[in-house]
Amino acid sequence: MIQKVSVIGLGKLGASMAAAFAHRGLEVIGVDVNERSIEAINAGHAPVQETNLEEMISANRERIRATASHEDAILNSDISFVIVPTPSDERGSFSLQYASWAFKEIGKALAKKNGYHNVVLTSTVLPGSTRQALLPILEKESGKKAGRDFGICYSPEFIALGSIIRDFLNPDFTLIGELDDKCGAQLEEIYARVMENNSPSARMSLENAELTKISVNTFVTTKITFANMLAEICEKLPNGNVDVVTNALGMDTRIGRKYLTGALGYGGPCFPRDNVALTFVAKELGVDAKLAETTDTMNRAVATKVVERLRPMIRENATVAVLGLAYKPFSHVTEESQALYIAGALSKAGARVVGFDPLAGEMALNELHGQIVVLDSIEKCLQQADAVLIATPDPAFKDLTAEDFRNDHAEVLVVDFWRLLKDKLTNQPNIKYVAFGYGDNQANTKRLKELWSGTAKETFQTSGK
Ligand SMILES: NC(=O)c1ccc[n+]([C@@H]2O[C@H](COP(=O)([O-])OP(=O)(O)OC[C@H]3O[C@@H](n4cnc5c(N)ncnc54)[C@H](O)[C@@H]3O)[C@@H](O)[C@H]2O)c1
Repeated sequence: MIQKVSVIGLGKLGASMAAAFAHRGLEVIGVDVNERSIEAINAGHAPVQETNLEEMISANRERIRATASHEDAILNSDISFVIVPTPSDERGSFSLQYASWAFKEIGKALAKKNGYHNVVLTSTVLPGSTRQALLPILEKESGKKAGRDFGICYSPEFIALGSIIRDFLNPDFTLIGELDDKCGAQLEEIYARVMENNSPSARMSLENAELTKISVNTFVTTKITFANMLAEICEKLPNGNVDVVTNALGMDTRIGRKYLTGALGYGGPCFPRDNVALTFVAKELGVDAKLAETTDTMNRAVATKVVERLRPMIRENATVAVLGLAYKPFSHVTEESQALYIAGALSKAGARVVGFDPLAGEMALNELHGQIVVLDSIEKCLQQADAVLIATPDPAFKDLTAEDFRNDHAEVLVVDFWRLLKDKLTNQPNIKYVAFGYGDNQANTKRLKELWSGTAKETFQTSGK
């Protein structure tokens, strides 16, 4: 039974996995090219910020060590998980630059190793990458044969930033792409010991696993985009209410309620790039993946449309407060944040933009330097705001009351993209409250009347003939 594992790449996902393996009793050697990450782990600290990571590394110090030497890790473990960056390239594909370098080092170490070693790629890659690009590097550098001398698997994780450790230990399923039964069975056995929830595993070819990984994210983003489309329709529909519609839709077990809240689009480091990448690989295979392309296009249009809608409501030099700057609550990450896009665009349009986020203020300031003033409390934002945009469903914003929004301006416009405060702010004096995704009773009533009364007359006439 395998007891010694190595983790190559000690970033957000790799360090979390290393800690989780140690927490479940395995001996772990971590490898990174960044000296500071190695020092942090060897001193019992988390190299990156992630929920429970510091505590877990500190509690399992005797079972985790880190090194810069791939050779040390390969020679002193039986299986290696490779979790290095695979950034998007200019074609929309995922670059294999870091993975290739890591595989080269692993291959050189394999040349010196007696006995079988299993190499598991965890980084997100596109179909064909593991077998066609990375396996040959291992064979070339080691002089050994895949399958006979070493195993190779592709096994990505389905985790969210902020809950990586919990998600890793409690997956819905583990995805195992395998070169052959030997390496796949070995990985499945380790997962069975490590996972806390008896999750099933799906074992398949390397290519099918690569496609499954990217399909999960693109499917979820399609679902989000569908809900956002419904929100847009509901806004134009007399008596429309996106929450009523999506709550009912979610009761259908074929659909489910998760990721079906119409609001701002998705962001972050993973979701936006995955539709682009799927479109790319499909095209290379001769398939026109319009659905993935459209999901991406629609998502990128959400914030632009919001800005267009807000522009006439916000006079020049007005102060706009944006509550929530990260791409989601409980996150420091502002990459592809819709809130930041809106804040930047309104600032360019002449508004004075102030913002608050419980965690991501500093990152937001770095990204929008000079375009936004980041304040350290919600109260400070609200004191000076002519308009307030609630951009993320952070629980901190749910506790606000109408009184918190009133200031010395005659009226404050509140645009609530997640409808957190609809019960508290609707029809309140001095507050113009806009719940994104709720239809104005008046708008389009006439249009519907014209549309349907005409049809009813026509039908009546036709059937009367
Ligand atoms: N973070 C997530 O939420 C998430 C979720 C699913 C999949 N992924 C995928 O996991 C991979 C890693 O993501 P991350 O967020 O942990 O990245 P990250 O940038 O936080 O960490 C990557 C780490 O790898 C190290 N590294 C680079 N080259 C190396 C090498 N040759 N040898 C050893 N270490 C090396 C870097 O120094 C860094 O510490 C990516 O492919 C990403 O798409 C990430």
